[in-house]
Amino acid sequence: METLRKIILDTDIGTDVDDALALTLAMKSRQDVDLQAVTTVHGNVELRSRIALKLLRLAGLKNIPVARGIERPLLMDRPILGWGGHEGRGFLTSKDEALNPCEQHAVDLIISEVMRMKGELTLVCVGPLTNLAAAIIKEPRIIDNVKGVVIMGGAIRLFNGLNLPYREHNILCDPEAAKIVFSSGMPITMVPLDVTFKVYIEREDLERIRAVGTPLTDAVASMIEDYLKIVKRNYTWLHDPLALATLIDESLVKTMNMKILVETRGEYTTGLTLALPAKQNDKQGQVKVCVDVDANSFRKLFMERICAR
Ligand code: RIB
Ligand code: CA
Repeated sequence: METLRKIILDTDIGTDVDDALALTLAMKSRQDVDLQAVTTVHGNVELRSRIALKLLRLAGLKNIPVARGIERPLLMDRPILGWGGHEGRGFLTSKDEALNPCEQHAVDLIISEVMRMKGELTLVCVGPLTNLAAAIIKEPRIIDNVKGVVIMGGAIRLFNGLNLPYREHNILCDPEAAKIVFSSGMPITMVPLDVTFKVYIEREDLERIRAVGTPLTDAVASMIEDYLKIVKRNYTWLHDPLALATLIDESLVKTMNMKILVETRGEYTTGLTLALPAKQNDKQGQVKVCVDVDANSFRKLFMERICAR
């Protein structure tokens, strides 16, 4: 595996707990990933940014900028989906209102960092793709200057065993943005539900995380516990951490090149991702799609990193 990867994490942190877990995995994998910035997207980006800032502070990281991104989907008449109302509850206090995201907008930060680090920066997108699509529109040169883009999003057809169509949340939130990104020709690795539904954390794992006893792990354990109460389950999926982990150990997943189309106009199908065979010389049609995961090895890596002191 190559050396340290410089990354920006673009996230809708705060709703599903897995974004916070992806950020924690990044913060605890400094030997593999060099987190340059966090950008937030979809819904209350101010609040999402404060959650990210607080987690960074709990890890002792004061110099990683967090930038607010775009609140609404690109087509402004599409709704903001999935805002649960619980975001930040039990984690942020009135004191955290002093946590300030940077002045620069997320879209400008993505553009300036990709162009500054020409060919060295990887974008890890674990929320709706609005910020990245807007960055492509504003500065198309980022397409040829980004090292890679890892996207948690979409579904191919393998995950539910029945091959039924399924619209994944991050794509459904902003299908037009997803269409722009997937047709851009950027070097994309797609981590769809087909693989992320195979990886999860269970209530019984909380004991091991709590036993570490640092402010960060205590906060993470409470966040997971609160989220399990909200979704009324004893487990929750690790969609976003798996996307990040593909940069830490690419052997965790098996990939195949495919062309990804995004449905934007169907009455029932808007937000679906359609995978077609990749054709030679079709630059827009070479998305590396994760089609299988070594779930046990991922789980081992995830727990070891989260519980490392
Ligand atoms: O469908 C899973 C995705 O939606 C994850 O990124 C999760 O955090 C939620 O936003
Ligand atoms: Ca997410």
